[in-house]
Amino acid sequence: MEGTRYEDRPEDGRGGRIVPMRLQKFLARAGVASRRASENLMTAGRVRVNGEVVTELGSKVDPLVDVVTVDGAEVKLSDGPVTIMLNKPAGVITTMKAQSDRPIVADLVPTREFPGLYPIGRLDADTTGLLLFSTDGNLGNALLHPSKHVSKTYIATLDAPLGKRQADALRQGVELDDGPTQPAVVEFDDEARRVVRITIHEGRYHQVKRMFEAVGRKVRKLHRASFGPLELGSLPSGKWRELTKREVDSLQ
Ligand code: URA
Repeated sequence: MEGTRYEDRPEDGRGGRIVPMRLQKFLARAGVASRRASENLMTAGRVRVNGEVVTELGSKVDPLVDVVTVDGAEVKLSDGPVTIMLNKPAGVITTMKAQSDRPIVADLVPTREFPGLYPIGRLDADTTGLLLFSTDGNLGNALLHPSKHVSKTYIATLDAPLGKRQADALRQGVELDDGPTQPAVVEFDDEARRVVRITIHEGRYHQVKRMFEAVGRKVRKLHRASFGPLELGSLPSGKWRELTKREVDSLQ
């Protein structure tokens, strides 16, 4: 199998092919733990490849030939769809097909490895933060359907402080062109009341910006910190990571 061309390798059932990869990636993809936690398992000497303990974080395995064990139990790649989160930087458009020479999210996610990846929902070009992608065609519909009320938390930096009345109006729901918004959770992240953490359960076009506009404030910066049960955490801007099996299950 060593040297087998990409095209000749078996499909992995997730829109890509089974290729050699770093051991920690293999462990994460097999659903053992996150990549970081898998590295800890390796450095703790709990991972063997073909019977040999492997602690070197750069080590690669070929899932088609190598036998990997953790604490003596064999680990196999899970097949099935792949879902990742990206920390989208500002200035990047949520599309998989370039329409101009502006940067697009497709440049930041592993489309060669997982050809069927598509974004679940969208963030405005100037919005940063958590954006999910999946090769599972059903997941997007399931998460974006209005009846699902998946919560999304944004951190909005405003042009001026938000008063108590304005915050209460957002909490209760404000009138937009396309109808009233559902109640939102509104908290302040700073004493000056200009950095606001808002959680909504809908996903309408420019919704957060329009909600603040409805109470007389402009959003200067917008960042999505969480999507449903998932948090962006310390994932650096422009980087992606695969969700663990537990995280994917938590979305269902
Ligand atoms: N609401 C907005 O106004 N913009 C986004 O990118 C996401 C939510």
